[in-house]
Amino acid sequence: MVWVCIQGAFGALTVTMKLFPAIVTMHLMGAMILLSLLAAQAVKYEQGARDFSATRNLRNLLFAGFALLWLQIALGGWVSTNYAVLACTEFPKCQDAWVPNMNFREGFEIWRELGARGDGSSIALPALTAIHVVHRMFALIVFGMLGYAAWLLYKQGQSRAAIWIAGLLLWQLITGLSNVVLGWPLLAAVSHTGGAAGLVLVCIAALMRMQTDETAQHKFAKHKPSHLKLV
Ligand code: HEM
Repeated sequence: MVWVCIQGAFGALTVTMKLFPAIVTMHLMGAMILLSLLAAQAVKYEQGARDFSATRNLRNLLFAGFALLWLQIALGGWVSTNYAVLACTEFPKCQDAWVPNMNFREGFEIWRELGARGDGSSIALPALTAIHVVHRMFALIVFGMLGYAAWLLYKQGQSRAAIWIAGLLLWQLITGLSNVVLGWPLLAAVSHTGGAAGLVLVCIAALMRMQTDETAQHKFAKHKPSHLKLV
């Protein structure tokens, strides 16, 4: 309830602050946080019905991949809110170069108006290129991390979660590429945001249902019937 109100306030700010990129990106992150809270609540209602056991290694890996996913979502929001999608209209090259002219300091100056530098002058193409390319490159790390976690999930008998994660990663690649090479069609943009939300949901469900030896012991200690305390 509190988060819905915060998200509503950010929605108002996106308008009153004239699509200020940092605020619009925070609004996107806020929506993902709200979705996560609802997902966590839904999994809790299942009361452990679909819990599964996993190694500590897998849990740590999935957790790290999940953290990187949030960073990738923030970077994607930064691409979108700065309208940096059209800085590169080809793939895998950008502006016909493997390493195009980029200005990272200008691109990642967070507190500034849309299309402007911190001092109010117009933002230049190398800044938008840096924003675009960083999102592409960081995707490789996320693909590697979550892809490996999906493989371990599959090997530990959780083929459903594994297929969802692998499928959604592929979906992100296809829709991300479509944004670039098809000139940013609305359907590709919306599908790409939806895919990111799907990854958040699947990771939360898998992380919450996962039981390593320690979490199983901890849960048992928390929920064991009171008469067992006497034993
Ligand atoms: C795990 C991988 C990825 C995730 C989680 C992800 C997530 C996101 C998110 C959340 C956005 C913001 C959407 C919005 O504001 O509504 C975004 C934008 C974008 N992403 Fe990705 N992305 C991934 C991979 C890729 C790849 C591989 C490419 C290109 C090859 C790509 C290209 C883009 C582009 C061009 C935009 C801007 C679209 C727009 O302005 O609407 N993304 N991404």
